[in-house]
Amino acid sequence: MQPAQFAFARYDVRLDSETDFVGWRGAARRLALNEVRPEDINWHVAPGSDTADLPAAPAGAQLTVPRDFITHAETASCHSDPDRFAFLYRMLWRQRIEPKLLAIASDPDTRRLEAMEKAVRRDSHKMHAFVRFRKIGEGSEERYVAWFEPEHFIVERNADFFVRRFTGMRWTILTPYASADWDGERLAIGPGAAKGDAPAEDDTEALWLTYFENIFNPARLKVKAMQKEMPKKYWRNLPEASLIPDLIAGADEAAKDMIARMPTTPAPHHARVQARHWPKREPAEVPDDDASTISELREAAKGCRRCPLWRDATQTVFGEGPDNAKVVFVGEQPGDQEDLAGKPFVGPAGKVFDAILDDAGVDRQKVYVTNAVKHFKFEPRGKRRIHSKPNAGEVQACRWWIGRELDLIKPDLAVALGATAALSLLGKAVPVTKMRGRVIEREDGLRVFITIHPSFILRIHEPADKEAERERFLADMKQVKRLMAA
Ligand code: URA
Repeated sequence: MQPAQFAFARYDVRLDSETDFVGWRGAARRLALNEVRPEDINWHVAPGSDTADLPAAPAGAQLTVPRDFITHAETASCHSDPDRFAFLYRMLWRQRIEPKLLAIASDPDTRRLEAMEKAVRRDSHKMHAFVRFRKIGEGSEERYVAWFEPEHFIVERNADFFVRRFTGMRWTILTPYASADWDGERLAIGPGAAKGDAPAEDDTEALWLTYFENIFNPARLKVKAMQKEMPKKYWRNLPEASLIPDLIAGADEAAKDMIARMPTTPAPHHARVQARHWPKREPAEVPDDDASTISELREAAKGCRRCPLWRDATQTVFGEGPDNAKVVFVGEQPGDQEDLAGKPFVGPAGKVFDAILDDAGVDRQKVYVTNAVKHFKFEPRGKRRIHSKPNAGEVQACRWWIGRELDLIKPDLAVALGATAALSLLGKAVPVTKMRGRVIEREDGLRVFITIHPSFILRIHEPADKEAERERFLADMKQVKRLMAA
């Protein structure tokens, strides 16, 4: 039924932003219920506007749209096509009488919707792969800033991905149309920026460039595939991309050279690649042991050379928390994200740990969290750095730091998260599954509670088993809370 007063009206709908899908949805519903035809609407984006002046939906009127359409439309609405809001309304309009429209693969509108969604998903994938942060500031001022040029309006829908991935870092992603900012607790979406607002280079970048240059194997170079996966427009923002033109230009010569030097044995193992290619920093003196506070000790640990792990790690990841904490949690060693952030337990295992501590009522801010080994041990695999378990010698070398941390903090209780931590705290191997949930008293009187490492929960695939293991770890953490009070 078409109310006469709106039948031939032409509507200007002003949406608040390029990603105002909620505004589009509300306006589209009201207009469709008032029988306003697609050709009678002009859709615009005008920041600060709302759609309050549109006709209200007639009382009791219902708009039935296939459930899937809203999901598809939400993704497609992030496409940069300026006509997208009008197009989505036209699809909505058609589906009132063609409810199976989305199933008609040959329909040009259905095909267009699919293509738009695909483009948005592909752009999101590029964003996940090619955003590179650059460090600015030091200490409490430290943050990471990236410049990225998406083809579509995808910052909002992808910001959560970066929050999950870089929870422990403070970061900002700048793009021409919007920015996303994470301060460690809160995500804010702000206005667009200019490329010059992002820093140009940092220290970590030099390390990354050397790595990229060295792992680059010209004999395997497939320029077309490389360009497809990493289109030129992204090269500008990737630190390693500045090397690509030279590497491609020299590829033939370099390939010949490489063949001439090729070993007759199979390709070298990663450890050898690592030994050969990762830049070795100059060893420095072992720091003096005159630290009388945790912050002095943390400063001294920055130059630790007690075992060779310092060579390939980005930095020492020292313990964190109050220097008079009643309980000290000890993990194994920093992971990839901890190595970059310089903080313990901020990556995936840290998130599991935090959530369970929270459920158990243990305030992470009030406990001290550290690792048995203070440098990230890994093997390079392509661009990834794969965690490698520290050996007994490395744990032994790092026991000196744990000992000093415990001397200064004087906790009532230490919690060994997994076998490496137990080895470090007790000086001997402990069967964790058997001893889990027990307290062992050391000769110096320190009580050590034994439990698993939270990453164990992450590695379980079967949902029911995962949940059961989470519950067991939660029970352990509740016991820790009781022991803290005892
Ligand atoms: N695993 C650890 O043992 N420690 C960390 O800091 C992170 C992951």
